[in-house]
Amino acid sequence: MVGSADINEDIIEVLYTREQIREAAQELGARISADYAGKELLLVGILKGGVYWLTELSQAISIPCEIDFMAVSSYGNSTQSSGVVRVIKDVADDLTGYSVIIVEDVLDSGVTLDYLVKDLRARNAESVEVAVLLRKKGTQKVDIACRYEAFDAPGSFLVGFGLDYAEGYRNLPYIGVLSPEVYS
Ligand code: IMP
Ligand code: MG
Repeated sequence: MVGSADINEDIIEVLYTREQIREAAQELGARISADYAGKELLLVGILKGGVYWLTELSQAISIPCEIDFMAVSSYGNSTQSSGVVRVIKDVADDLTGYSVIIVEDVLDSGVTLDYLVKDLRARNAESVEVAVLLRKKGTQKVDIACRYEAFDAPGSFLVGFGLDYAEGYRNLPYIGVLSPEVYS
C-alpha cells in the first residue's frame, strides 16, 4: 500500500466531483437510451477502472440492457502506458445481434480502446461504440472514434472513481490529481 492513512489527503486538486460525474452520466444515459431504443444493448465494462463508471452510467440508461466485463492489462504499476494489451478476462466470442458499448474509465494513448474496438467488431456485433468517463487532451497516439465521453481531461495523471495508482485510490468518490509525493 502507498500513501496516507486517509487517501483524500494524497489529492492535491479535485477535478470532477461525484455530483458532476452523476450529472454527466444522466446526460449520456439519456442520449444512449434514445440512440439504442429497440436494440439489444450490451455494455462491456473494462475491469477494473471502468467499474465505477459502468455502474453510474448504466443506472442512467432507461432502456433494457445487459452488462458484461472484460479485463485487460496495459499499464502495470507505472504511470506510463506500456503499449501492450493483454486480455485477462473475456466476453462471449459471438456477439451476433448485440449493439455493444465499451465502457472505460479513460481514453489516454488510445492503444487499449483501439485494440478492444477492433477485437469486439470481429465478433459479429451489430455495432461497437465507446463511452469513456475521461478523454485526455493531447495524449492520443491512436485515433479513436469515441461516441460518448463525460469530460475532456488534462493530460496529467488522475486517480479516483475507478482510476488507480498502483491499484490504490480507485474508491475515491471523485476524480483528482494525485500528489507527486506519492510516486516520486
Ligand atoms: P491507453 O491505452 O493509453 O488509452 O490507456 C488506457 C488505460 O490506462 C486506462 O484503462 C487506465 O487504466 C490507464 N490510465 C491512463 N491514464 C490514467 C490516469 O491518469 N490514471 C490512472 N490510470 C490511467
Ligand atoms: Mg487501469
